[in-house]
Amino acid sequence: MQKRDMAQLIIALDQSSQEQARALVDELTAAGVRWFKVGLELYTQSGPAFVRHLKDQGASVFLDLKLYDIPNTVAGAVKAAVQTGADLLTVHCSGGPAMLEAAQKSTLGSNLKLLGVTVLTSFGGQDYESVCEAWGARPNAVPPRNAVAISLARLAAESGLPGIVCSVSDLHDGQLQRLSWKVHRPLFVTPGIRESADAANDQKSIGTVDQALAAGATHLVVGRPITAPASDSRVEAAQKFLRTIKEGYVVTSHS
Ligand code: C5P
Repeated sequence: MQKRDMAQLIIALDQSSQEQARALVDELTAAGVRWFKVGLELYTQSGPAFVRHLKDQGASVFLDLKLYDIPNTVAGAVKAAVQTGADLLTVHCSGGPAMLEAAQKSTLGSNLKLLGVTVLTSFGGQDYESVCEAWGARPNAVPPRNAVAISLARLAAESGLPGIVCSVSDLHDGQLQRLSWKVHRPLFVTPGIRESADAANDQKSIGTVDQALAAGATHLVVGRPITAPASDSRVEAAQKFLRTIKEGYVVTSHS
């Protein structure tokens, strides 16, 4: 069996002010966290300067902008993201192959890795059905969510992207790993991570750390269970997640 690298914990900095985000980063960096995710809220407010601040602190940055536009516009945005020094950037797979290929081309010669977003982990139920119907599916005959996630991931793989964002349940049966990836070790980044005591919040497709690791996740994105924990402090919550990932790695790398 191929030896895997230890999965990385990425903290979602879904904070409403730059000051709050900086305080959280300082707290969690001291607790051993190395990766942070800058999403739409923080980026819209604090922009590339905040990404550079994180890089200056020695952190790795997942810029979660979920780009979705015409190929030329997305290609330009990816070039701009390269300049920030971010390590990972998301684009929507549903933008299609031309958009994904243009985006990927903009990363050439840089360290930025693109991740295709398949189906949002918060997206399910009636919302999902309404969109499928808008795209032409007959009511009561919408395609299974998992099948759509795999088809969208296939577009990412065939367009040369190095990885995707997907739910733990989309990853667990190995279909995503078996796509025709053009890279040696594709990245599988899973949000919607919850331990049994954590609230699901608005996530509809959740999985535990152990489930994510067993499914083959390379990066686990955790937000509210660490940034707004129910009982522990934020540092304690982060350390618990880091410990569980490390223990899971020790078990899988010896099995
Ligand atoms: O607080 P929580 O752990 O639910 O945060 C999950 C993070 O992952 C959020 O920042 C959300 O935007 C992001 N995300 C997601 N589902 C995706 C892609 C990103 O939940 N498919």
